[in-house]
Amino acid sequence: MTRDDLMFKEGLLKGQRILITGGGTGLGKVMAEGFQLLGAEVYICGRRGGVLEETAKELTGAHGGKVVPIACDIRVPEAISEMLDQVWSDGGALTGLVNNAAGNFISRTEDLTPRGFEAISNIVFRGSFFVTLDCGKRWIAEGKPGAVTSILTTWVWNGGPFTVPSAMSKAGLNIMTQSLAVEWGPKNIRFNAIAPGPFPTEGAWARLNPTSSTGESSAPGNPMGRVGHMPELANLAIYLFAPGSEYVNGQTIAIDGAAHQAGGGGFSRLREWTDEQWESARTAIQGANQRDRAKRTV
Ligand code: HXC
Ligand code: NAP
Repeated sequence: MTRDDLMFKEGLLKGQRILITGGGTGLGKVMAEGFQLLGAEVYICGRRGGVLEETAKELTGAHGGKVVPIACDIRVPEAISEMLDQVWSDGGALTGLVNNAAGNFISRTEDLTPRGFEAISNIVFRGSFFVTLDCGKRWIAEGKPGAVTSILTTWVWNGGPFTVPSAMSKAGLNIMTQSLAVEWGPKNIRFNAIAPGPFPTEGAWARLNPTSSTGESSAPGNPMGRVGHMPELANLAIYLFAPGSEYVNGQTIAIDGAAHQAGGGGFSRLREWTDEQWESARTAIQGANQRDRAKRTV
């Protein structure tokens, strides 16, 4: 991404300090780059230390500024606390948090085990809440303002067949957004969310579209006839942290070309898959999981 892909004025986010969970890859990475290009200090976390280091190096090499990688598994509350201690002692309170880290895979719900459900809900539902709670406690104790943006999906409105643990967890974060916007609004801590449609990333496509490549540029059934472009997502995320957007609170904003209004749940068509198609999807997904596990440092 370049500065020209962003619609905002120079230095818009100067003085801001924003943590993006799962900021080493995909949508998290493009938001990190957008915030950095507009002057924010950026912290990115994830489980794979090497991936985070590489991203931080790439982004600072390209644009200068400050992008700090911290290996942290957000399923572990103590690890979150240690990460936030490190962030706070590195220059003061965060001004913003993006709950972006997630796990997901397509599966028939009857094929799930409790561990399969927890593999997703422990990251998305519990992990995102733990990070939010720890940041919130710090902001409240110090009387500091804060802004939280959670990355959801449009399934929070019309369901996510074949991705039920993800849809349930994201719906929980949607209600967290609405609830805390009211509860912590008086403390000047704002909550909003973004519900993206399909933005081809390696992480998502390996698990949700395992038989096609991320190069796919059209989206059948999408009213705009295409998938999302990464800078479009970055621009929306920047807006929600920018001075001037403070009165926006408790909102979940879709960025999907109106796909969810047009098509209902994204994986409905998988009702037609055969046992063999499910078996080959599962094998492809587990291959991707295994490759990622090998790189984890925490
Ligand atoms: C059924 C499956 C499965 C599959 C795993 N499991 N894959 N069950 N179908 N395809 C089950 C396993 O059998 C096991 O249960 C349990 O899940 C844990 O599996 P592990 O492989 O040990 O999990 P782990 O290595 O911890 O991996 C976690 C993960 C993985 C969530 C499964 O995918 C991950 O770490 N992902 C992070 C990145 C990611 O997912 N990015 C995509 C986000 S995209 P048993 O009982 O058998 O032991 C996204 C987009 C949404 O959210 C919107 C798009 C439009
Ligand atoms: P991605 O690249 O796989 O991003 C997921 C990130 O979460 C990875 O960087 C991963 O890093 C991190 N993560 C997973 N478990 C973690 C844990 N326990 N602790 C810390 N970090 C963890 O996929 P993406 O497509 O960019 O997705 C980003 C967000 O957008 C997700 O919330 C997803 O649900 C949402 N979304 C994406 C799309 C899309 O089309 N791409 C559409 C709608 C919503 P590690 O593996 O190193 O931990």
